[in-house]
Amino acid sequence: MSNRFITAGIDIGSTTSKAAVWIDDCLGACVIGPSTTNPRETARECYEKVLQMAEVEAGEVAYIVGTGYGRAKVSFAQENVSELSAHGKGARCMLPTARTVIDIGGQDTKVVSLDAHGQMLEYAMNDKCAAGTGRFLDFIARSLGIDVKDLARIHASAKYQPVRLSSMCSVFIESEVINLVNDEIPLPTIVQGLHHAVASRVAALVKRMGVVQDVVITGGVAKNAGVVDSLERNLGIKLKTFPDGIDPQMMGSVGAAIIARDIYLKRHK
Ligand SMILES: Nc1ncnc2c1ncn2[C@@H]1O[C@H](COP(=O)(O)OP(=O)(O)OP(=O)(O)O)[C@@H](O)[C@H]1O
Ligand SMILES: [Mg+2]
Repeated sequence: MSNRFITAGIDIGSTTSKAAVWIDDCLGACVIGPSTTNPRETARECYEKVLQMAEVEAGEVAYIVGTGYGRAKVSFAQENVSELSAHGKGARCMLPTARTVIDIGGQDTKVVSLDAHGQMLEYAMNDKCAAGTGRFLDFIARSLGIDVKDLARIHASAKYQPVRLSSMCSVFIESEVINLVNDEIPLPTIVQGLHHAVASRVAALVKRMGVVQDVVITGGVAKNAGVVDSLERNLGIKLKTFPDGIDPQMMGSVGAAIIARDIYLKRHK
């Protein structure tokens, strides 16, 4: 048995499930896979996989924290925390100057504002409207016959002239987009229009709380440089990016693993 201090975080999101292992003061390993209709089992599988990757035995893990939409299903976790706390903690640890954390996942968008010491001050959430989420982009990309991973490349392939989408609802936007394609409107202009629509909803949440820099984005949609570009234009600032090799989609699980460390240390002072 080693004398390493090890904790784990499990983030069961609406779209993907993630697990991270924190060893002493570093990220040991993290894994991601699709969420399923059996979150209990998926959580267990992610956990086993991340332990294997980090070359850690289950008995070495001091504390486990679950987070995300399906956090109550992480039956082997000692406790669970909200995604807001987890993303705030993960982002802040990887980027100590972060004061505003925007998490855009598959199902909803959350914005957390942190004070100079990293404590959560306020939050805002959009869980009502699908048109500000990853799933909306997945859905429209599918109707356009494009992989969601290609949206950023298409966005960047032409001058920024986003088409104005008149609908507010994702179902109507789909038919509007199909009409635009039939009218031979260039694809980059349409994709920029989609990103602009997502970004303006997210920016409205951020502005409601006040834009306090540094602003950083987490969640799977952070990997879409087109959304990041539209958001920067909308907010009139540059977003801060994580250091190389840090995956923004993993910040919930990483934050949960760090919170697990903090809780354990506090209780065993
Ligand atoms: N490489 C990529 N390029 C563009 N978009 C991506 C990429 N990878 C993931 N995404 C987007 O990320 C979304 C999933 O994000 P994430 O894993 O943070 O969601 P989640 O945590 O399951 O959801 P939630 O937090 O809302 O419950 C997908 O819907 C997809 O749109
Ligand atoms: Mg999430």
